[in-house]
Parts: sequence; structure tokens; C-alpha cells
Amino acid sequence: DALRELYQEVIFDHNRNPRNFHKMADADRHADGHNPLCGDQLTVYLRVADGIVHDASFVGHGCAISTASASLMTEAVKGKPVEEVEALFRDVHALLTGGQGAEAPARDVGKLAALSGVKEFPARVKCATLAWHTLHNALGGEHGTAHTE
Ligand code: FES
Ligand code: FES
Repeated sequence: DALRELYQEVIFDHNRNPRNFHKMADADRHADGHNPLCGDQLTVYLRVADGIVHDASFVGHGCAISTASASLMTEAVKGKPVEEVEALFRDVHALLTGGQGAEAPARDVGKLAALSGVKEFPARVKCATLAWHTLHNALGGEHGTAHTE
């Protein structure tokens, strides 16, 4: 169906050509994230000033899904106020894990909706959430234990 096609297209594109895939020299925040199911890890870098995420990047190694999700994440958060980024984290997290708001996210998450295609492969959901949890931690969010077990 359309979602499946969009999912495959977006994952393929962003894995082959990840956006913002570099270490950021002038980052003022960063966090490491790690998927305990496979051992893959990545680092998210942010430059934040005046409550705005001016720049976002990542490095690391992971599967196609985690790389594509990280690439999409950096693209989506650049230039957004921190509060909006936190709201986006909650929406995308709900979308990916089927939590509250999954049926009707409060905001239109645009292309990120394609990521929900991962729900057809439950074992890979943590691949898709990895970059988002790492983003959340870089912003100083709580590192929920549910994410790391
Ligand atoms: Fe390791 Fe996807 S298999 S992050
Ligand atoms: Fe975030 Fe499980 S993936 S709560």
C-alpha cells in the first residue's frame, strides 16, 4: 500500500544518502544512544541558542532504518524551537510505538509519517526510535528505562 511504498522509498533514500551525517565541531549538546537489541550506536549533536535548535547532525553506525530515521530527525528539527522539537519527539514516538496519539498525532508530522511503516516489523521499532530517544536525551530529557531495557 501507499504507506509501505513511502516507507521503503524514504528509508532507502535516507540510508543511501544520510543528511547531516557528520560530527559537529561547535555543537553545544550531544548524546550517545545505543540500541541494546543489536549493539548499534549513534551520537546526536545539536547547536542550540535562544531556545532554537539551529543545527543538528549525527554520526554512528546502525542499520538502514536507524540511519534513515536519524537523517530524517536531523532534517526535521533544524531551525525549530526546542519546545516544538520536544513535541515532535512525543508525536513521532507515539507514532512509532503505538502509544497515545498514534492514531491521530496532534500535528502533521509530514514525511516522518513514513516511519510508521516500521510497525509492520515490530522487532525493528527500536531501530527507528533510537535517534529520537538520543535527541531527547541531548535536549536534557529523562532517559526512560523502558527505552534501554
Ligand atoms: Fe541495530 Fe537497527 S539493527 S539499530
Ligand atoms: Fe521509547 Fe519503548 S521505544 S518507550
